[in-house]
Amino acid sequence: MIRFENVGLRYDMGPEVLRDLTFEIGRQSFQFLTGPSGAGKTSLLRMLFLALRPTRGLVTIMGRDASTLTREDLPPIRRRIGVVFQDFRLLDHMTTYENVALPLRVRGRAEDSYRQDVVDLIRWVGLGERLNAPPAVLSGGEKQRAAIARALIDQPDILLADEPTGNVDPPLARRLLRLFMELNRTGTAVVIATHDLGLMEQVEARRLVLSEGRLEIYD
Ligand SMILES: Nc1ncnc2c1ncn2[C@@H]1O[C@H](COP(=O)(O)OP(=O)(O)OP(=O)(O)O)[C@@H](O)[C@H]1O
Ligand SMILES: [Mg+2]
Repeated sequence: MIRFENVGLRYDMGPEVLRDLTFEIGRQSFQFLTGPSGAGKTSLLRMLFLALRPTRGLVTIMGRDASTLTREDLPPIRRRIGVVFQDFRLLDHMTTYENVALPLRVRGRAEDSYRQDVVDLIRWVGLGERLNAPPAVLSGGEKQRAAIARALIDQPDILLADEPTGNVDPPLARRLLRLFMELNRTGTAVVIATHDLGLMEQVEARRLVLSEGRLEIYD
């Protein structure tokens, strides 16, 4: 679904932080992306989401060379990618419900057609009591779960999650991992960036390991 060939990335005039990345995120695949802090996990996710262009190499997304995509091409492709950002990026002036419903509202869907789905998903991530709370009064783990619900609400083809269990306790981390696996079983490709070894030990899954700018893949 997304393919990288000899991709390299540098920021400004700095050194290359990622080098010679060649890999594929297959349809309905499930993988962890790991490596030490600063290894480039977030940078790689941003390239997968087309928020950052590589400085060399080829990125193919859903059959198209990413470098040829125009501004108009991006929104329909991005809509098929759910992203959980490391820093959540919830909108402060909106409630949990409104934040999670936002991708659907932006698409012009009528609220009647999605209200119950949004409420159900928010309950599923354990935020039923927080439906009408703004992000400012949520704990770190609650914000994280709201961000996950927002990434999932539009049933993406690919889910990219950046440290999605970084702010929750181990039982909740296991529950969220099960949610991602269930999502994967229903057809979504999942990429989870994490350095939580405990989390990765819970499932047999492909690992993409970044170290010193390079990628090793353990299938
Ligand atoms: N906007 C930027 N401008 C310049 N350098 C950057 C920028 N973003 C990241 N970097 C550098 O790129 C490298 C990779 O950073 P990145 O955030 O991708 O790592 P990470 O693996 O996600 O780390 P963490 O586990 O701490 O989240 C680091 O050396 C970082 O300093
Ligand atoms: Mg990061």
